[in-house]
Amino acid sequence: MRTREIISGNSKMQWWQEARFGMFIHWGIYALAARHEWVKNYEKMTDADYSRYFEHFEPDLFEPRQWAQTARKAGMKYFVITTKHHDGFCLWDTKYTDYKSVNTPAGKDLIAEVVTAFRAEGIKVGFYYSLLDWHHPHFTIDRNHPQLEMPELDAVNQQRDMKIYAEYMRNQVTELLSNYGKIDYMFFDYSYPEGKDGKGHKDWESEKLLQLVRELQPEIIINDRLDLMTNVGGWDFITPEQYKPAKWPEINGKRVFWETCQTFSGSWGYYRDETSWKSIRQLLILLIETVSKGGNLLLNVGPTARGNFDQRAVDRLNLMGKWLGLHKRAIYGCTQAPEDLSCPENCLLTFKAETNRLYIHILEWPLEKLILPNYRGKVAYAQLLHDASEIRFAQPRVWSVVPENFTPGDLVLSLPVIQPDVEIPVLELFLK
Ligand code: GLC
Repeated sequence: MRTREIISGNSKMQWWQEARFGMFIHWGIYALAARHEWVKNYEKMTDADYSRYFEHFEPDLFEPRQWAQTARKAGMKYFVITTKHHDGFCLWDTKYTDYKSVNTPAGKDLIAEVVTAFRAEGIKVGFYYSLLDWHHPHFTIDRNHPQLEMPELDAVNQQRDMKIYAEYMRNQVTELLSNYGKIDYMFFDYSYPEGKDGKGHKDWESEKLLQLVRELQPEIIINDRLDLMTNVGGWDFITPEQYKPAKWPEINGKRVFWETCQTFSGSWGYYRDETSWKSIRQLLILLIETVSKGGNLLLNVGPTARGNFDQRAVDRLNLMGKWLGLHKRAIYGCTQAPEDLSCPENCLLTFKAETNRLYIHILEWPLEKLILPNYRGKVAYAQLLHDASEIRFAQPRVWSVVPENFTPGDLVLSLPVIQPDVEIPVLELFLK
């Protein structure tokens, strides 16, 4: 049996490592604008301008059970929802502000219903909480704030007290982590400490916030955006956003837990006119490639202001679920393959240490033969994963007739001429 390649000794990360695939949900009153969750900032809207979304937020098609079922069928094992985004709007019944869903036509605590629905589907619960707040009267106006260009900025900021805001955050986080049962995951967003108008751990009072979270939910896992990167226990995993790391990320020469968050089309909040939607194939490759480098994929859905998922998202999620249904073994609990197993051309590898099985995800179907360089003697049995049909392989002696680029240490797999009818076929190799 091979040694575990994954980072060990951190039991609270175990479910997450096993899970590999989660759903991010960005929902808020920016969904009405339907042109990015940063719309208040991008269009320099005042609170008065932006209030039209608060007044008209009426999610009459909101059925969280449907969201949860869609996520489960897509193969997602956890979800992370925006309880409050940068605009300061809260989706739960918080005591600390009136700026919440309960006071819109929606009229209820949306977080409570979502949490119940996802838990009922066996999906772990995560909260996103924005450190930025463009509505709170004590959040000082900085370079990310929509009102940056207002007159008398310095005088206005002098009246604001970030200490009050930091306490507000602790109060809200206490509510979120006390009133909704076990919360598995916390995503704070985000720090920008550079320059004099930035904000970081001193402004958020991150140490206190972190301690509070750990006290209220001792088993919770926390992302890396509190600006506590050099603190011991200041974060559990890193969150490369909207890009694929070239290899398993390392900090101080050590592999770290990582999760890439990604959108279908660019924006996190519902964006009506965005056309740059990733194809099902690109999405599957994103998932497989992430797992092949030891990471997780948190894929985002931005529900509409009526409370349903965009059909473009539903279609993609269903197709991902269809593929995952047949290829679960190659994703859940898998990680990067051991270094001595090289990756054949146009393929991606995932590996499960527990069963000592290697998964070869074939991105481009070759003609009849797949050559595995230096695999001779390492494979006990091989099959196509989706239908468990045997794949025969040859370890011919040196004088056999073999392809030109074949060397004696290689293994040659015989594939059917026709690519199996799955988006990305996977071979399962039982290693010796
Ligand atoms: C960025 C954006 C934000 C989004 C987040 C997701 O920090 O500001 O809109 O929620 O990324 O990771």
